[in-house]
Amino acid sequence: MPARALGLPVRSPAPNLPERVTIWEVGPRDGLQNEPNTVPVEVKLEFLDRLAGSGLTVLEATSFVHPKWVPQLADAEQLLAGLDRRPGVRYPVLVPNERGLDRALAAGVRHIAIFASATETFAGRNLNRTLDEQFAMFDPVVSRARAEGLDVRGYVSMCFGDPWEGPVDPAQVVAVGTRLLGMGCAQLSLGDTIGVATAGQVEALLGAFRSAGTDIDALAVHFHDTYGQALANTLAALRQGVTTVDSSAGGLGGCPYAESATGNLATEDLVWLLDGLGVHTGVDLDRLADTSAWMAQRLGRPSPSRVVRALRG
Ligand code: HMG
Ligand code: MG
Repeated sequence: MPARALGLPVRSPAPNLPERVTIWEVGPRDGLQNEPNTVPVEVKLEFLDRLAGSGLTVLEATSFVHPKWVPQLADAEQLLAGLDRRPGVRYPVLVPNERGLDRALAAGVRHIAIFASATETFAGRNLNRTLDEQFAMFDPVVSRARAEGLDVRGYVSMCFGDPWEGPVDPAQVVAVGTRLLGMGCAQLSLGDTIGVATAGQVEALLGAFRSAGTDIDALAVHFHDTYGQALANTLAALRQGVTTVDSSAGGLGGCPYAESATGNLATEDLVWLLDGLGVHTGVDLDRLADTSAWMAQRLGRPSPSRVVRALRG
């Protein structure tokens, strides 16, 4: 029977997996930051509302970065002002520096994420800083945010491969990540920014963090799906005990400053896998697929998510 007729995956739990997973939905931020055209703020707000309605509890809403660097998210203030915050839902935003933090605080944000690079080249291209200078930029952001009672996540980009530098040594990623944790980040999200990782690399990197004394609960994974490896990599991470997974509704996404970055792991593809494994996410797949089909219409092209296409054609 084809998946279309089934509508939901057959449930068949497997051993060595967490009971529940928190999905960190990045579609409104990672998804829309890479769109060729800026999406109207009203559409972004409806997108956020529909995502919350499908049961997602963490919605990365936007970025307080320089508007010239990411014009698609230049409406961050307007978006936050219009946001109908639902109880039980967190709305983190990306903040690169103190100017961004000032803006986020003025907009009433309670959860932020800083975003570091594991490589020298990407630190330059994405942040206009050297690898070392990025820490000087983030340090006052994290300490001020913590003093204000905000929750801070730290991203590490280019954890597995970098389009300019090639393969990335896990030791380099651990060095950057542990510095962010030491600054006061509550969680690290390990980014495969250009989607080149394979499952063995994921196990090796998580093992390297473990050996460095990092608690696996402090780690999340963030896979882009350029080479179709995101789900396999996610399963590898879940088997290592990771319980927070980043994904993007409909598979939107990519970083405008990373060559060859395509969409994130699609949230629907992730939910199909987790529902099938009996891992609780709280997400209603049907409502989520409706949301992505609706968004695809707004963007004028079909969703790259295999599950959205199978369910909604
Ligand atoms: P810069 O040009 O070095 O900034 O950019 P600066 O500190 O020299 O400041 C220059 C001017 O910009 C100043 O204005 C600042 O006030 C202003 P002036 O005094 O000259 O009039 N400025 C700002 N204005 C508004 N908001 C701000 C801000 N900051 C400075 N926050 C900067 C440095 C970090 C700002 C810039 O490089 C930038 O905005 N980068 C963001 C790039 C980005 O958003 N990339 C995508 C997100 S990362 C990603 O997608 C990866 C991820 O998904 C994980 C993965 O996949 O691996 C997270
Ligand atoms: Mg990303």
